[in-house]
Amino acid sequence: MHDTPAAGPAGPADSAASIASGGTAGTAGVPGVRELTTAQKASLTSGADFWHLQGVEAAGIESVMVADGPHGLRKQPAEADPIGLGTSLPATCFPPAVGLASSWDTDLLRRVGEALGAEARAENVSVLLGPGVNIKRSPLCGRNFEYFSEDPFLAGRLGAAYVHGVQSQGVGTSLKHFAANNQETDRFRVSADIDERTLREIYLPAFEHVVKDAAPLTVMCAYNKVNGTYASEHHFLLTEVLRGEWGFDGLVVSDWGAVADRVKALAAGLDIEMPPSGTDAQIVAAVEDGRLTEEQLDAAARRVVTLIERTAGARVEGAVFDADAHHRLARSAALSSAVLLKNDGILPLDPAGTGRIAVIGEFARTPRYQGSGSSLVVPTRLDNALDAITALAGPERVAFAPGFALDGTPDPGLVADAVAAARDAEVAVLFLGLPAGTESEGHDRTHIDIPADQLALLAEVHTANPATVVVLSNGAAVAVADWQDRAAALLEGWLLGQAGGSATAELLFGLADPSGRLTETLPLRLADTPAHLHFPGSEQHVRYAEGLYVGYRYFDSLNAPVAYPFGHGLSYTTFELSGLSVVRGAGNTCTVTATVTNTGARTGTQTVQIYVHDPASSVDRPVHELKAFGRVTLAPGQSEAITLHLDERAFAYWSAAEHRWKVEARTVEVRAAFSSRDIRARESVELPGDGVFGPLTAMSSLREWLGHPIGGKLVGPLLEKLAAMRPPADGADAERGGGERSLPEMVAGLPLGKLAMFGAFAGAGAMFTPADLEALVAAVDREIADASA
Ligand code: BGC
Repeated sequence: MHDTPAAGPAGPADSAASIASGGTAGTAGVPGVRELTTAQKASLTSGADFWHLQGVEAAGIESVMVADGPHGLRKQPAEADPIGLGTSLPATCFPPAVGLASSWDTDLLRRVGEALGAEARAENVSVLLGPGVNIKRSPLCGRNFEYFSEDPFLAGRLGAAYVHGVQSQGVGTSLKHFAANNQETDRFRVSADIDERTLREIYLPAFEHVVKDAAPLTVMCAYNKVNGTYASEHHFLLTEVLRGEWGFDGLVVSDWGAVADRVKALAAGLDIEMPPSGTDAQIVAAVEDGRLTEEQLDAAARRVVTLIERTAGARVEGAVFDADAHHRLARSAALSSAVLLKNDGILPLDPAGTGRIAVIGEFARTPRYQGSGSSLVVPTRLDNALDAITALAGPERVAFAPGFALDGTPDPGLVADAVAAARDAEVAVLFLGLPAGTESEGHDRTHIDIPADQLALLAEVHTANPATVVVLSNGAAVAVADWQDRAAALLEGWLLGQAGGSATAELLFGLADPSGRLTETLPLRLADTPAHLHFPGSEQHVRYAEGLYVGYRYFDSLNAPVAYPFGHGLSYTTFELSGLSVVRGAGNTCTVTATVTNTGARTGTQTVQIYVHDPASSVDRPVHELKAFGRVTLAPGQSEAITLHLDERAFAYWSAAEHRWKVEARTVEVRAAFSSRDIRARESVELPGDGVFGPLTAMSSLREWLGHPIGGKLVGPLLEKLAAMRPPADGADAERGGGERSLPEMVAGLPLGKLAMFGAFAGAGAMFTPADLEALVAAVDREIADASA
């Protein structure tokens, strides 16, 4: 097993190159940017064409190529079409992020990254445009298949592993789409309106972790606006947060066409516009008239030159890749990506059995294995499940019926054939899924349903043969609640890449154990999802009104029913968890240990998920949040201890009042689970807090004073006086229940200054006067300053 943090950047032993380090002044033998003319520097800050950066030939700065990403190389031939969506050279199509993420396997992500890097290097591509770590805010987002999770911690860990892998090959990555790009509707204009805490806790941390842990060479800014400002012109995001707070020293590239005003964008921290808009002269003019400083232009140009230098390892003569080995890796990735949602015992099928198998559904023969848009890969090979099942079970056992037409046209003849095949078989394996056109970059879905003609087919097949297994092909959550009773087993195949067909067959026959776990909650209905009333917004604004309560943070906080919870996934074996221990380390850090035992009869893989629950936070918090995870593969009867680390951030929330991460001194609960709804053990741990004391003022409430480690002590004498003042427990007040409550509780929400103001009416006999208040505030200021010094 391996621990949560991504493995180091080391590539395979034979990996030829790694990212060249440092270098801020220009490529070897190339003049520093200061020696370039303003026009030459301006030219560096936009592309040469759709896929190439602009070089400066006179200065020996070469023009390098970038290409999509993320789950396969999409290098277009030289004669690329004007919008860059046409054909591309064959490359291994790995499972898109929706599949890869379900593995919860950082080691796998790193190995897939290495393979992607090797393919890019073989094609002289210097930067692969991925990974996408945007949060799945709504299941409707058309690009959810390209993203990892509804959970920022998981998305960050997987994204970092991917970046380590690609960059170990000397090829750069582009972490995208920064930031808050969570829908396709109106993506070029919409403003994602998000409160500060939600931005920090949900929409930024995956980017933050990847930047800090894996140092992607580039970050791609999003198309959309964030709180009214284009991501491409967002000084706060691009400069203050990304570079200032997170220490990013790479290059910021625009998403393709994301720049509205190139001068503003450069001033905000963007380095290069892609594809070029032919406006280099505007940059020169802006430097001349002072709207941009020479230093700002130098910084952007220098970062372009540095990128070229850092990716020198990507441009080596004669680099090749092993397409067969990559196909095998794509298969093992697909094996780890599928999630077994339900199984009444019908799976695995017996490869040596004699009963007939009806394979039904066009997707068995014509697989859906990736989504549409800029990530579309032309695969080197394509497995299909029908061939693989036939090869494993023998042709005499298998009957195929397409059951439905891919374009959704109802066809009673196809249904009748499928029903006949199911009736004659011991088991029917029915491949259902979403039509290719529904999941794509550029538009969102409007519902989460499997097409009606396919569900009608399922009803008939199930009536003919209740031993029906359903395999799904879809890139984002679909509703299963209304029909899953008709499936004896349900395998969520997501989109599994070019080897998904053979992997599916292996899983069905138990040649591999299903080990995928959900990285997004499957709701009962679309209307249950937290962003439902605020997606995709209107009049160019989308309000993230659900705040922090995205995915399981919402469903679990409400204990609302779901079809399948975050983290869920069955195996062909069973597991137990025992011996949870949580030991505090330095400051607010912990080491969590637990033992996992395979209690079944087959080898299998379990993913231990660690959630943190703060029962008494001073701010509202989701009931629990994922803060660590680890996979373990065990033989029958085998046990293994798993150790995971929780750092300070695992316990922190973003204080919008103090604009910082804050850890409170308190006892929190650490939960070890097999899904967000399958908590196996809980242990409490006392945290000292971060020792940073927030300010208190006259407008802070008595409750805030009491909850403050310093203020609480200073306000003690006042509290004693208040406690002595119990309201009468009889008469009208008692009828209202007033006598039941002590005075301090009644005034707990009152700003201290108001207490002093009321005290002023009482004159000299007041228990708390404005002068007392002034002294108290001065004392607390002094003590906070001393404690923080
Ligand atoms: C997409 C990016 C992609 C770029 C280049 C844009 O439309 O949003 O993800 O990398 O095109 O194809």
